[in-house]
Amino acid sequence: MWQYEKKLQYPVKIANPNPKLAQLIITQYGGPDGELGASLRYLSQRYSMPYAEVKGLLTDIGTEELAHLEMICAMVHQLTRNLSEEEIKGTPFANYFVDHTTGVYPVAASSVPWRAEYIASKGDIITDLHEDLAAEQKARTTYDNLIRMVDDPDVLDPLRFLRQRELNHYQRFGEALRLTSDRLNEKNFYSFNPSFDKHCNK
Ligand SMILES: [Fe+2]
Repeated sequence: MWQYEKKLQYPVKIANPNPKLAQLIITQYGGPDGELGASLRYLSQRYSMPYAEVKGLLTDIGTEELAHLEMICAMVHQLTRNLSEEEIKGTPFANYFVDHTTGVYPVAASSVPWRAEYIASKGDIITDLHEDLAAEQKARTTYDNLIRMVDDPDVLDPLRFLRQRELNHYQRFGEALRLTSDRLNEKNFYSFNPSFDKHCNK
């Protein structure tokens, strides 16, 4: 179960609405490497993890990604609230507005709606951890690309925080992969006892 704290993991306080930026930043909610897919990926993968440490890590990171999803939604909301039709017309956000008004809806910057394939849960510890390492780097790249497009310091600040967390998650998944490899290798031991070798080589 989860307990909800009525605050964001990191503050989002955007003074100036900007529909163009909202159209880009929504990708970290509903895009292929966004926070919705990340949270559901880790919270789904944990059921087939054989080691308690890795299961716990997936629960921790999956939960944190939910908090990131909440930050992205807050950013999109703050960037689009109180806009007039005139401010929306002629911007890339106009297409989104026609379908969703200013409701927060999971789509990519390219307007493709969120897809279940982004979860990528395969049921194999090595496969899933490699998926997770790549996912964190893809999310980091997406934050890098967003940061390139943004000038507003109110928007840059939470984006930089979120980018840093992806690096931290990458490190932790790397540790989990190392622990997993060590555990799997524990079964591969070598003996200098000739009778044992004879037994193994029969
Ligand atoms: Fe992450």
